[in-house]
Amino acid sequence: MGFQFGVSTAAYQIEGAAEEDGRGLSIWDTFSRTPGTTRGGATGDVACDHYHRWESDLDLIQELGATAYRFSIAWPRIQPTGDGPANAAGIAFYDRLVDGMLARGIDPVATLFHWDLPQALQDLGGWGNRDTAMRFGEYAELVGEALGDRVKLWVTLNEPYIHLVLGHVLGVHAPGQQLGMDLLPVIHHQLLGHGLAVSALRRVSSSPITLANNYSPVWPKSGSDDDQAAAMFYDLVQNRLFTDPVLLGEYPPIVEALTTADIDSIVMDGDLRVISQPIDALGVNYYNPSLISAPVEGEDLPFSRLDITGYPTTDFGWPVVPSALKDLLVQLRQVYGDRLPPIWITESGCSYAPVDDQFRIDYHAGHLAAVREAVEAGVDVRGYCAWSLLDNFEWAEGYDQRFGLVHVDFETQERTRRASFAWFREVCTSAAPRP
Ligand code: NOJ
Repeated sequence: MGFQFGVSTAAYQIEGAAEEDGRGLSIWDTFSRTPGTTRGGATGDVACDHYHRWESDLDLIQELGATAYRFSIAWPRIQPTGDGPANAAGIAFYDRLVDGMLARGIDPVATLFHWDLPQALQDLGGWGNRDTAMRFGEYAELVGEALGDRVKLWVTLNEPYIHLVLGHVLGVHAPGQQLGMDLLPVIHHQLLGHGLAVSALRRVSSSPITLANNYSPVWPKSGSDDDQAAAMFYDLVQNRLFTDPVLLGEYPPIVEALTTADIDSIVMDGDLRVISQPIDALGVNYYNPSLISAPVEGEDLPFSRLDITGYPTTDFGWPVVPSALKDLLVQLRQVYGDRLPPIWITESGCSYAPVDDQFRIDYHAGHLAAVREAVEAGVDVRGYCAWSLLDNFEWAEGYDQRFGLVHVDFETQERTRRASFAWFREVCTSAAPRP
């Protein structure tokens, strides 16, 4: 199979149908229905109504000529309380979806966890509870048994670092916790869940497996020792905390700063072996680099994040720096050497509202050129998935940030192809070798 072009979405961001076919509550239902948590009080109750419009949405992907579609499976549709046998109606939805992709010549790339933990598991402690990792392994096995003959690439976790920081440190994402520096349980149990999911999927499916981490190349503000040390700390937390254990079988040393408890009471014997069993690809989500300095007065973290100026910015205000994607890919190769499996860009994209979106075309053109340069420099990259097919529920930002190649009118659910859709179709159809 040659290089693949695809698009990405996630269940809670597009599906809607929050109460249908036995779906249980997720932490995002609870969080977004709590006043003051999301912009304008937005929820994913309806979102893009993809649960009912999946066929025409798959038609759009087929029209695009993309050969891969990265979607996510809502755990509470499969196990409404995060435990026990599979809900047949939940499995049936993804069964239809996967068959619909195959019928259109699209490879299903399935993410098992894109942040919508069953609320019942959160009530028992969520990822802070070691048992959640066990439950995740069981859920992976159920999904693998049902879809393992047709899913072409598995993604266990999506951006565990962002789920940690926004959901458990800053409290601006579900489950809305602020755990201070007692973070190791949430870190470790997500990783253990990944490892147990890999073991489970190996039992029931022969398809390759990855996880999707987000990476951000770190720019120290200056050459001063303090700025360099802060940048190094930040790099270990942001870029290596969820990758070293998987690829190297060990935590970076900063892990000691992320717990007040005894590490051995959380990281049990044998866990790192489960976590570091071989995977077949590394999923890379990339949006922007980070400019880091020593902590400014009054900050209690060992670093400060500064605004990057001098680059175009998206509607979100994020700087657009394609060259940093090349740097990142080359750096991953340098850091992990032969331990680095082939890379999939599992997400890259920008929020930009207009339908005539030359900005988004430039964004993707620049980032694809960066990928090509990395490939020429010897990095093995197998695919590029644009985030996203559709405008969707952008978490705490509600519906205000629009990442889609396709514009969605959330009043009418009308889909309108943006200029970038036609452009990406050219990319997919002219360059992609068909599988
Ligand atoms: C990464 C997340 O995986 C996705 O859910 C989100 O919408 C995009 N970043 C854009 O913020």
